[in-house]
Amino acid sequence: MPVPSLLQSVMRPAGAAAGDIATMWWVMLVAGSLVGVAVIGVAIYAALRRRRDRVDDPAERDRVATRWIVGAGALFPAVVLTALFVFTLVTLAALHPDRGPRTPLVEVTGRQWWWQVRYLGERSGDVVESANEIRIPAGQRIALTLKSADVIHSFWIPALHGKLDMIPGRTTRLWIQADTPGVYRGQCAEFCGLQHANMRLVVVALEPAAFASWLANERQPAREPTDHEAREGRDLFVTAGCAVCHTIRGTPARGTVGPDLTHVASRLTLAAGTLTNGRGPLGGWIANPQELKPGALMPRVPVGAHDLHALVHYLESLR
Ligand code: CUA
Repeated sequence: MPVPSLLQSVMRPAGAAAGDIATMWWVMLVAGSLVGVAVIGVAIYAALRRRRDRVDDPAERDRVATRWIVGAGALFPAVVLTALFVFTLVTLAALHPDRGPRTPLVEVTGRQWWWQVRYLGERSGDVVESANEIRIPAGQRIALTLKSADVIHSFWIPALHGKLDMIPGRTTRLWIQADTPGVYRGQCAEFCGLQHANMRLVVVALEPAAFASWLANERQPAREPTDHEAREGRDLFVTAGCAVCHTIRGTPARGTVGPDLTHVASRLTLAAGTLTNGRGPLGGWIANPQELKPGALMPRVPVGAHDLHALVHYLESLR
């Protein structure tokens, strides 16, 4: 899977909702430009006409003035603004959460400064948790519920839908659709503190069958370590303090402060899009998170080179 590029543009919609928003953007741009040109044109016309042919009869002058005030001053804006208003209402209706499925697939919670992603199943045992990455089947409308755990964040995947605030104490709904498989980048769109700019996420749209098998794998507990170094890494994870904040299902690690790491190696990025996932970045992140993301809740846990190696080896085996 390629690492997502920096490209995130509302002008490159990849699904129905973003398509409607892009269309509205273009219509507004064209209408606004035409009105602007018309107003400038009329102003120039008025300036030239005034010099060329003065109307000396006061009654005739009033008639001309009234015609302009009613026509250009009232009728024209009323028609144009009403048309744009109706168009906006139609677009808003098309974007309404009710136009998506009733049952949400995913619950996304904004946190300083990462995204907690929970796949909701029919039974409580089906719920699995991930972070900073939302996998969806392509070609379908997917309902999301959005929450915040601390401050106001804003959920925004420009290629798939508009922005929606995540407000503490409130649950909002949104649907997204990606027409074709691919990686779509997103970003928190509401200033939420020191690392707001490093609060990115990706939506990975998969073929429906690939999505189903991916989700089935996510529901499995973490793989048992198969070699000595990985076993050492797992034991360190559980005893050295990592488990206080992180969960790895299938191990005694049950912390809920930080991201669930049960299948961390299958994710594209680390630290909410700050780093590309891989041994080197993961090692650097564990060794000194405050250097890479100042203010993040992840503390620096002193580990020696040997232990760090074992930890990274274990975590990178969690596919
Ligand atoms: Cu979260 Cu900005």
